Amino acid sequence: MKTLLPGSTLGILGGGQLGRYLALAARRMGYKTGVLDPAPRGPAAQVCDFHVRAPVEDEAAALELAKRSDVLTLEWELIPSPLLRAVSAKKPVFPDARVLEIIQDRLVQKEFLGKEGFPQARFKSAASAAELSAAVADIGYPSILKRRRAGYDGKGQSALGGEQDLPAALELVSAPCVLEEKIDFEREISVVLARDQKGNVEFFPIAHNEHKNGILRLSSAPAPISETRAREARDLAAAAAQALGHVGVMAIEMFVAKGGALLINEIAPRVHNSGHYTMGACAVSQFEQHLRAGLGLPLAETWLLSPVVMANLLGDLWTAGAPRWEPLLHNPRARLYLYGKDAPRPGRKMGHFLLLGGDVESLRTEADQILRRMGTPPGR
Ligand SMILES: Nc1ncnc2c1ncn2[C@@H]1O[C@H](COP(=O)(O)OP(=O)(O)O)[C@@H](O)[C@H]1O
Ligand SMILES: [Mg+2]
Repeated sequence: MKTLLPGSTLGILGGGQLGRYLALAARRMGYKTGVLDPAPRGPAAQVCDFHVRAPVEDEAAALELAKRSDVLTLEWELIPSPLLRAVSAKKPVFPDARVLEIIQDRLVQKEFLGKEGFPQARFKSAASAAELSAAVADIGYPSILKRRRAGYDGKGQSALGGEQDLPAALELVSAPCVLEEKIDFEREISVVLARDQKGNVEFFPIAHNEHKNGILRLSSAPAPISETRAREARDLAAAAAQALGHVGVMAIEMFVAKGGALLINEIAPRVHNSGHYTMGACAVSQFEQHLRAGLGLPLAETWLLSPVVMANLLGDLWTAGAPRWEPLLHNPRARLYLYGKDAPRPGRKMGHFLLLGGDVESLRTEADQILRRMGTPPGR
């Protein structure tokens, strides 16, 4: 295994906020960075040494990035795998194309996890209208239909509470889907871990995730779960990373079902929104830890330095112009992270903030208050 030292160049496939913070972590440590992204000045391109301006599906452009890099990683798991294989023939890439091929397709991912014996919600392939009716007959209601490819932030999903929801579901199966049982969960958590090239694993403290309309709203740590449950979650997550042969950071989203059973929801083979709290509240951030794994450096300690809540700032806050910043910036325990995106849209992640100190319960209430006040026009 070759160790890449400061002065080497990291190439990043994909130029959003995850790429931005990977690049900033690399820069801080004295590495050079380049990014492949179609936008003229996206979140990552703003902070990289060089920018190959093309879509992440453009193989020639990806090879150009590879030519100018010593090692490559990605911020998005939907990079076409033939492109990733072509790039890995030239330069080391982490994670491996094999991992992506399993993760990219929800059905393949679920079948892989099932074969390996991991607990998850019951599911059935629904690649056509006929398969959908068979799947509904088997799984029943309530259930959730999800596109197999390219879903994120709850996009490409349709909830089925009963027959009245079948027309919407039929529209969704115009592309292959998977139908899964709806879990009546107590809470959602994620285990963010890093696995290095030798197979060593380090865990970040488990995060408690709260979604609204399928989009992560708040993430907090430490999660309010027992040590036994936390150990079980870490064991499942590490076994999944091991089974995949993953290198780098990986986020494993889980449901804690009523009664306490853990079920894997989905896996992201990369840095993740629910790990943003680590940048500011842990001894090492998920971004540096990801780089360490891929650069051949030992993984760092992940101590939680303070209880923390991360709140996403969605484009909805921009509908009447910029949000009110004072409630956030005048709070001495709040840290702002803005992604440098110039086109706010409802549901689009524009930034996030961390709130530190005290206990998680009061931090969640306080984060809610800040969000409310940021969206309230001045004078009200
Ligand atoms: N089977 C399920 N049961 C209950 N809630 C679910 C289920 N699948 C998804 N959800 C809810 O929708 C959110 C987004 O779904 P997810 O599968 O994680 O897709 P995405 O790729 O959009 O994150 C989850 O975090 C959870 O809140
Ligand atoms: Mg998810």
